[in-house]
Amino acid sequence: MQQLKIIGGQALSGEVAISGAKNAVLPMLAATLLIEGDTCLYNVARLRDVHTFLQVLNEMGARAEFSDENQVCVNAKTITNPVAPYDLVKTMRASVLVLGPLLARFGYAKVSLPGGCAIGARPVDQHIKGLKAMGADIAIVEGYIEAKASKLKGAHIVMDTVTVTGTENLMMAAVLAEGTTILDNAAREPEVSDLAHMLNQMGAKISGIDTSTLTIEGVPSLHGGEYSVLPDRIETGTHLLAAAATRGEITVRNTRSDLLEVVLEKLERAGCAIKRGENFIYLDARHKPLQAISVRTAPFPAFPTDMQAQFMAFNTLAQGSATIVETIFENRFMHVPELARMGADISVDGQIATIRGVSKLSGARVMATDLRASAGLVIAALAAEGESIIDRIYHLDRGYDAMEVKLKALGAQIERLQEIS
Ligand code: UD1
Repeated sequence: MQQLKIIGGQALSGEVAISGAKNAVLPMLAATLLIEGDTCLYNVARLRDVHTFLQVLNEMGARAEFSDENQVCVNAKTITNPVAPYDLVKTMRASVLVLGPLLARFGYAKVSLPGGCAIGARPVDQHIKGLKAMGADIAIVEGYIEAKASKLKGAHIVMDTVTVTGTENLMMAAVLAEGTTILDNAAREPEVSDLAHMLNQMGAKISGIDTSTLTIEGVPSLHGGEYSVLPDRIETGTHLLAAAATRGEITVRNTRSDLLEVVLEKLERAGCAIKRGENFIYLDARHKPLQAISVRTAPFPAFPTDMQAQFMAFNTLAQGSATIVETIFENRFMHVPELARMGADISVDGQIATIRGVSKLSGARVMATDLRASAGLVIAALAAEGESIIDRIYHLDRGYDAMEVKLKALGAQIERLQEIS
């Protein structure tokens, strides 16, 4: 297992280019199952989750591969095995996204139930409820969701909770259903909208994009085509917070400030200077003492849960105290004991963490527990005095494209090691 070694204390400075969004490309790869022709996606990050998804598609009988540095092409004309097995779903919950497309196009899907994960229970009841409302026959057999439908029918579905992949699964199923589907209380995350635009490009009829009511008029088939994935707002925010925590100055390119306005406002309130450009964001954290800022996670456009650990790492070294309220996942504070090992002063009461800023963190050996928690530990290690070793960085590779290469180019002392005991 690989590790990251970081010698902290270096202010980040320079420019970094952001990759395509993980949470947009994964549903788009699932969406290729709806399409008979060739689909090519551009601005695709080389992530472990993307490779896993390509494997899921290939094992089903599709042809799916990187055809260029950041370009993936898929042909799913024939699917011989409409199954997402447990071994793949357990490493990447997003594989549940194949359920809606397989059912809509082939009338059958068998997808492993994801089970619990490190950050919480993460049920899929809303995915199932919506597909049933569209006429699917669904049974849970030996840990698998087995879904059948000779033809899905449009329905009015009110989702009980705002779910990103739930919205995406139902939107994809509805694209090839007979009649019109209305999805109420839909997620409005930019990645949901990007998927809707991609589907429309291939012949779908989705309106209400960017709102919480999506209307999908079913069409008989979709055609192939090309689409460029939007920039990753979480990678963008992670780099900005790394620069802020190390009191540095960076320009983040190939990104869009409208994707993370709430994070930028919090950073400004903390004391960072920020400039928003056409496709870049500039941050300068060198001049003012920075304040700890409270955040509460909630669905878009509120503060993203996927930025919570990184913001907490920043707060540990800011002045004053702040609270972080996690409202999306019930077990998403696993980075707290690791940050405490580096000298952070944090107490947790249920879903609320209180962070009292300290004047310094010191490097330590810490363990990554999930993707975004790992990013928080990297930020803390970059800002800490001395050497940190971060174990289990396979979590990071799921969602960050060459993270240590990008950070090194910004002046960080960081290297990837084979495990030393
Ligand atoms: C997606 C993102 C993940 C992000 C999360 C919240 C992808 C691939 N992953 O995950 O990075 O952290 O959104 O922004 O896009 N829930 C139910 N029933 C359901 C579905 C969800 O109760 O059927 C609950 C979940 O337990 C959770 C909340 O709804 O408490 C939001 O989860 P959801 O939006 O579904 O997260 P994911 O789509 O899995």
